[in-house]
Order: sequence, then structure tokens, then C-alpha cells
Amino acid sequence: MIAMLAATLSASSCKGQERGGDMTVKEALSQRHSVRSYSGETLSDETVLEILWAANGVNREDGRRTASSAVNAQDIDLYVCKADGTFKYDPQAARLDKVTEEDIRPLLRAQNRFVDQAPVTILLVTDQTRFGEPRPGSRNMSFGFIDAGIVSGNISLYCTAAGLGTVCCAPRMRIEEIQKSLGLTDQQVPVLYHPIGYPAE
Ligand SMILES: Cc1cc2nc3c(=O)[nH]c(=O)nc-3n(C[C@H](O)[C@H](O)[C@H](O)COP(=O)(O)O)c2cc1C
Repeated sequence: MIAMLAATLSASSCKGQERGGDMTVKEALSQRHSVRSYSGETLSDETVLEILWAANGVNREDGRRTASSAVNAQDIDLYVCKADGTFKYDPQAARLDKVTEEDIRPLLRAQNRFVDQAPVTILLVTDQTRFGEPRPGSRNMSFGFIDAGIVSGNISLYCTAAGLGTVCCAPRMRIEEIQKSLGLTDQQVPVLYHPIGYPAE
């Protein structure tokens, strides 16, 4: 079974990766840990797109994704938050589209000051409308949290394999201000975020 799990995250599937080298899933799991201190080095656009693909990109011809989602709702949208603005990931086109010039990281970080050091922070938003009409007592928000957790796991594992550092963060985001800045409805709910950068020495 371990041999089956030890599929190689090879350079061919990790284009743009410069430091991780070949790493098995088992090795990445062995090395994964939270990183809260980053060097000042920026990430190339290619590297950011590779992280986003690993997180929740399209991996099949029918448009399904690297992360599973409840009832295949594909409800998790990814936003890249940087000093020069915020960008939305289009998984079908494998492209980033600018949403705003605003640096929204102060709305995310609360006590997590290390967010300021990271060149990019990926924000995970569940779009509850993808589950259909809201129903009283529905479990759709729970599904959103679970789906975000699966994407988070992909980000952590990919970053480890690529020699990058990250940490999953959730508490005390300023949800309504984030929604306003990004033009989101109250059905598009920020769930968690991942600052990402090369680990400080
Ligand atoms: C849902 C969730 C929220 C978290 N929020 C934060 C956070 O706001 N700040 C932080 O420094 N770490 C945060 N963490 C990271 C945990 O503190 C960390 O995973 C835990 O201490 C175990 O350390 P490890 O990831 O190195 O195994 C969060 C983790 C999860 C899963």
C-alpha cells in the first residue's frame, strides 16, 4: 500500500519547482510542518500557478479537480493576495485575473503578522451558491469548511514537495470587509488562508 502511495511528485508534475526535487508523497508527508518565517524572495508567476493547480486545479478532461468536493460542487475559489493587489484563480484557463488593486492582507491576518513577510497568500472562499438554493438546516456550510480543508492539505503537501513553506490560518478574518473589497456576496464566504514563501534560513 505504501508503495502505491509513494507516487512521485516529479519535476514533470511540478514545473517551476526549483528546490524540492523529486519527493515521494511519503517523504512530503514526513517533512510537512507549519512555516511562519519566510525569506524575502518572491515567487515566479509560474510557481504560483503550479501551487494553485495542485491546490484545486483541473486534473481531468471533464473539468474535475485535484481536490474532491461535496457533491462535486467545486465550491472553493482561490484568491492570491499580494502587496500589489488581489487576483482570482480561473482553474479552467489556469490563469490569474486581477480583482482589485487593494492589498487585502491586513483584513486576513489579525495576529498572524508573518503574513506580511510572505510574497503571496492564498485565500480560500466557499461559494455556497454552487450547492444550489440555500435550505434551512442544510449542511452546505459544513461541506464548504470540509472542502476548504481538502484544498488546504493539497497546498501544504505541494509546498513541502516544492521546497516552499506555508501554514494554514483561519481565525479572526474580517469577513464582511473582505467580501466588500473583493465584490463577493454573503454566499461567498472566506474560510482560511495560506501565506506561502521560501522558508527563512
Ligand atoms: C484550521 C486551522 C487554523 C489554523 N490557524 C492558525 C493561525 O491562525 N495561526 C497560526 O500560526 N497557525 C495556525 N494553524 C496552524 C496550527 O497551529 C498548526 O498546524 C499546529 O500547531 C500543528 O503544527 P504543524 O502544522 O507544524 O504540524 C492553523 C491550523 C488549522 C488546521
